Amino acid sequence: MTETKFIPLMVPDIQQQDIDAVVAVLHTGMFIQGSKVEELENNLAEYLGAKHAIAASSGTATLHLALVALGIGKGDEVIVPAFSYMATANVVELVGAKPVFVDIDINTFNIDTNLIENAITEHTKAILPVHEFGLACDIAEICKLAEKYHIKVIEDAACALGATESGKFTGTFGDVGSFSFHPRKAVTSGEGGMLVTDNDELAGKLRTLRNHGIEIQNGKTEFIEAGFNYRMTEFQAALVNSQFQRFETILEDKIRLAGVYFNCLKDLKKIRLPEVPENKRHTWQSFHILLDDGIDRDDLIISLAKKGIGTNYGAQCMPYQKYFQEKYKLPCEKLFPNALRAYMQGLVLPLYGKLDETDIRFISDCIKTLLEWEI
Ligand SMILES: Cc1ncc(COP(=O)(O)O)c(C=O)c1O
Repeated sequence: MTETKFIPLMVPDIQQQDIDAVVAVLHTGMFIQGSKVEELENNLAEYLGAKHAIAASSGTATLHLALVALGIGKGDEVIVPAFSYMATANVVELVGAKPVFVDIDINTFNIDTNLIENAITEHTKAILPVHEFGLACDIAEICKLAEKYHIKVIEDAACALGATESGKFTGTFGDVGSFSFHPRKAVTSGEGGMLVTDNDELAGKLRTLRNHGIEIQNGKTEFIEAGFNYRMTEFQAALVNSQFQRFETILEDKIRLAGVYFNCLKDLKKIRLPEVPENKRHTWQSFHILLDDGIDRDDLIISLAKKGIGTNYGAQCMPYQKYFQEKYKLPCEKLFPNALRAYMQGLVLPLYGKLDETDIRFISDCIKTLLEWEI
């Protein structure tokens, strides 16, 4: 890529063999949840060391399925970080439960583990922690807390396939883990998601719920639940299966390029770079920096776009959004200062394998120049 080209925020890593894999499925005429989906489930289960993997139509559908399958609904509370993509809290609302927001640690952008215990009440049924931007939250500690209070853990690992804490994959700590294959993730099916669990009964429920409530009993199709159609298509699965063969290379490229950002930006006083605790492997779904309060983030996004660089804010302070403000009226400045700051001052920079070190240096130099001179 040269300086005159536009550098988008994200370009999925799609190669000719991925396209061929999709086209091959189109020739079969078999489009819905068949052998390719099964192959993807097996690939993910084997990679993560999980007993069951259940594919679905998105990372929102997977979270929704998990909540329904765990019987979470009206009158229940689910603890979520105040800073995430809206889907994390929306699904809690969709099952009729109440999201209980907890502020984040501003250094990692993940839920502040120290604040969780205070948020647990007699109505708490689950903690839904997010591994934000590809970095594991303190998931082992969160699971211990959940065990103490006999509540479930649903890991939102939408951005964190391949991320680890102490060598163990995110998504495999809690009762169930949820992943997304949205185009901004390392491997993509356009829309798509995956659940993993070691619990046989839960896996059965998830499979039934994603497919209209169907269970095959004595060779006969029975509709045993009011289920959804949250199935993945065969061509989506074929696309991810093909990319998944080079998954570790995709991650290694991202980790290497993130290192270049660190080198280029480490001396810039007006920004804070993300922190990566030693026991965690960050997979850099997003390279998210925090700008000092005096900087107009949205102006910077516009200025960078004029220089041919696509950037965006990272995620929402969820209780600050219109729907949640109207419903719960939570004073976010007071209750979730870090989530609000990350929402207002966070900036995601381009990071994917199609970029090279020159691109990252160019982006970094533009940020330095703009922050030092123009805005
Ligand atoms: C943390 C988080 N959870 C859930 C989702 C929803 O995933 P999907 O877009 O696949 O529905 C996203 C989307 O990017 C996300 O970032």
